[in-house]
Amino acid sequence: MSEIKGKVVVITGASSGIGEATAKLLASHGAHIVIGARRVDRLETLASLIESEGGSVIYQPLDVTKIDQMQQIIRLAQSRFGRVDVIVNNAGVMPLSPLEAL
Ligand SMILES: NC(=O)c1ccc[n+]([C@@H]2O[C@H](COP(=O)([O-])OP(=O)(O)OC[C@H]3O[C@@H](n4cnc5c(N)ncnc54)[C@H](OP(=O)(O)O)[C@@H]3O)[C@@H](O)[C@H]2O)c1
Repeated sequence: MSEIKGKVVVITGASSGIGEATAKLLASHGAHIVIGARRVDRLETLASLIESEGGSVIYQPLDVTKIDQMQQIIRLAQSRFGRVDVIVNNAGVMPLSPLEAL
């Protein structure tokens, strides 16, 4: 994964699950990580963890249903790291229910 080093990666829905795991993995390989989600306390904890391991990260409260917040996180990435290389559009929900409830 040497090609990951230095890339600027925006990850939506990074407060848990796949987004959180992706942020940790890419940061550990030297990417600059820009994370967003609604649960800011979890973003703060994740950012602290990544920084404590020497990673490069910034976070912003983000609700992906609000276009101004999406534009804002892209601007944040550009102003902090100069550009955006990758956007991981991960935010979302996957409702689960018993089969009999369809
Ligand atoms: N896990 C699977 O097996 C699986 C399979 C197929 C597809 N997926 C998809 O993969 C993605 C991640 O799944 P996961 O299992 O990691 O779920 P998860 O742990 O529930 O994570 C979902 C993430 O999306 C964020 N999110 C939800 N609505 C948001 C919104 N309006 N604005 C910003 N962030 C929002 C949540 O953060 P906040 O609540 O803090 O905003 C959370 O960080 C989802 O889109 C899911 O549909 C998952």
